[in-house]
Amino acid sequence: MYWKCQKEAGSNELLNQITEQIPNPVLVSNEAGWVIGANGAVMRLTGWSFQELTTGRMTVFRHNSPIDDWYNLGGDEGHGLEVCLEKQDGMRLKLPIESVFTYRPPGQAVVAILREFSPQQEEYVQNLLTKYIIRAQEDERKRVSRELHDELGQNIYSVLVGLQVLEKAMPEAVQIQNLQQMVARSLAMLKNIAVELRPSTLDDLGLAAAIRSFLKHFEQTYGIEGQLTVSGEQHRYEPEIETALYRICQEAMLNVAKYAKVTEVQVFLQNYPDQLNLIVEDQGVGFDVGQLEIQGTGLGLYGMKERAQLVGGKVEIVSQVNLGTRVQATIPLTEKGGIWHAH
Ligand SMILES: Nc1ncnc2c1ncn2[C@@H]1O[C@H](COP(=O)(O)OP(=O)(O)O)[C@@H](O)[C@H]1O
Ligand SMILES: [Mg+2]
Repeated sequence: MYWKCQKEAGSNELLNQITEQIPNPVLVSNEAGWVIGANGAVMRLTGWSFQELTTGRMTVFRHNSPIDDWYNLGGDEGHGLEVCLEKQDGMRLKLPIESVFTYRPPGQAVVAILREFSPQQEEYVQNLLTKYIIRAQEDERKRVSRELHDELGQNIYSVLVGLQVLEKAMPEAVQIQNLQQMVARSLAMLKNIAVELRPSTLDDLGLAAAIRSFLKHFEQTYGIEGQLTVSGEQHRYEPEIETALYRICQEAMLNVAKYAKVTEVQVFLQNYPDQLNLIVEDQGVGFDVGQLEIQGTGLGLYGMKERAQLVGGKVEIVSQVNLGTRVQATIPLTEKGGIWHAH
């Protein structure tokens, strides 16, 4: 157990020994709700050093009421109380309090033993992990895509320009023309790969622009015409939301190309003050939503749902054989400082 002041540390030898033995996080707070003691588990969970923990990054509350409530609680009545910990990486953890007791001199300090994970907490941590993985994956794709496009793309372009100069100097050399075509094709392929990895439009210009350019690309590749209808006032959304909806759109469109047997597809992006909807709709062969294993893996549909859930939204799929398929992602929103966040 770490203490804010040396005197406390010395006078709590037994408590120190016990709290360092148990795996649960243990916190001691003073009347004002400030942390004055914490065991190693708290440091491990949050990533903060004890000095950092005591600079007010931790708040203790119960249904938004202050620490005073703690003093009215007996040994086992900690339920309903939570400690909100801000971790070093900026993420928030809410830990339920297992039990709480006041410690001598009475009323001056409260010891709270926390539960590391409730079932909700497990789910929350699991979601955080998935979010981290998705974020890392997207960051990596962004990096590789930019490098391909800006570095390698520029180099290949220079080779192309050089070949054009050579061709003028030696118009009779057929090989130069062949090389030129090959290099031009390679450049086009490289740009395709860079855009597929992660289009820079998504970060630079936002969701609608990225979907619009994806549709163009999609039409060139699959010969299916995509129409985008954007309604409501457009904003920039949290990057996680924009990425999630872009990837959902991509997967739904690829399914259209693979299965729907259509020549056109409709995409709607509906901006509401408190909600963002993405709809991908085709009038193709449709499928029985309850019988997914028949054709494909079902992983695509699952992935779309998971991506939406991670930003607090959902995906609904409605499909009827021979009438078509409609994939709708709905993300509830709140605005903070000009950027729209998930709830
Ligand atoms: N737009 C669509 N039109 C017709 N069938 C579809 C459509 N989207 C999905 N499906 C059906 O749902 C199944 C599951 O899709 P998905 O989870 O994306 O898996 P996968 O794409 O790997 O097959 C597909 O195999 C297909 O049978
Ligand atoms: Mg799929």
